[in-house]
Amino acid sequence: MSALPDDLEAAIADLKKQKNAVLLAHYYQDADIQDVADYLGDSLQLAQAAKKTEAAVICFAGVHFMAETAKILNPDRVVIVPDLEAGCSLADGCPGDRFSAWRAQHPDAVSVSYINCSAEVKAASDYICTSSNAEKIIRAIPEDKEILFAPDKNLGRYLMQKTGRKMRLWQGSCVVHETFSERRLVGLRERYPDAKIIAHPECEEPILKMAEFVGSTTALLKFTISDPGKQYIVMTEDGILHQMRKASPDKEFISGPPQQNSCACNECPFMKKNTMEKVYLALRDLEPRIEMDPVLRERARVPIDRMLALS
Ligand code: 13P
Ligand code: SF4
Repeated sequence: MSALPDDLEAAIADLKKQKNAVLLAHYYQDADIQDVADYLGDSLQLAQAAKKTEAAVICFAGVHFMAETAKILNPDRVVIVPDLEAGCSLADGCPGDRFSAWRAQHPDAVSVSYINCSAEVKAASDYICTSSNAEKIIRAIPEDKEILFAPDKNLGRYLMQKTGRKMRLWQGSCVVHETFSERRLVGLRERYPDAKIIAHPECEEPILKMAEFVGSTTALLKFTISDPGKQYIVMTEDGILHQMRKASPDKEFISGPPQQNSCACNECPFMKKNTMEKVYLALRDLEPRIEMDPVLRERARVPIDRMLALS
């Protein structure tokens, strides 16, 4: 393997031009990757950007289910990822066969699945949602229909409270958001009495109860821009703090506290598998690629298109 260039940022910019490639990055990526991305966003914004792009190559700096969604929406384009091993605990905790068996037990129910799931689960779902449009999607389902919501039980419970709809929940969770400590958050609130607590709906109920604002990654960012406050305790993955600090340099952002002081548990170990080096190599070699069975891909597209039409 030839040596890596000293200036990875410039080399990535050159490769993007050479290969007619676009770099999409989630807010949970490392700051250096965020800074070289063409589109930065939450799960919904990135799916929308993937649908719109006319680039020949999509390099997706996020996790596997996000790149898979980009491929489902762009079967004729090359979709590459920096690291194929960048998975997600929510997607891993909901295997397609077990999900289909669950659905089969409730044949009259409508199933809404969070985008953090595999193509197999998407293909067996009626609707996909993200954290920014989930409430709207749930409200669009006729009142007399039972709803199966997978795979995030925390987002599901939050939506039940918001919409008043009873739903059957798959018992999955995000390894990052479920490790925030309520006890340590109480301590932080005492230390920063003027700080506002803001949280992603993947967090557990006691954390959401303490939050003044709950929303998707983008909604949290927008809140910190428009809100007159000066200090925020941010209960989601640490990567988003980079954009919050850039957008509001006069405000203070405090990372949400994990269970133990010593761990970096508020960083997603899957998202953080991606590095600038791997982004460079993926663009240079046009691999690893997302490849999918065409039948599965077409079936998985149906509930994603329904979501995009409602968003
Ligand atoms: P959003 O991008 O919808 O905020 O979801 C966060 C997340 O956990 C992505 O994996
Ligand atoms: Fe999955 Fe949680 Fe990582 Fe998002 S933060 S990719 S939900 S493990």
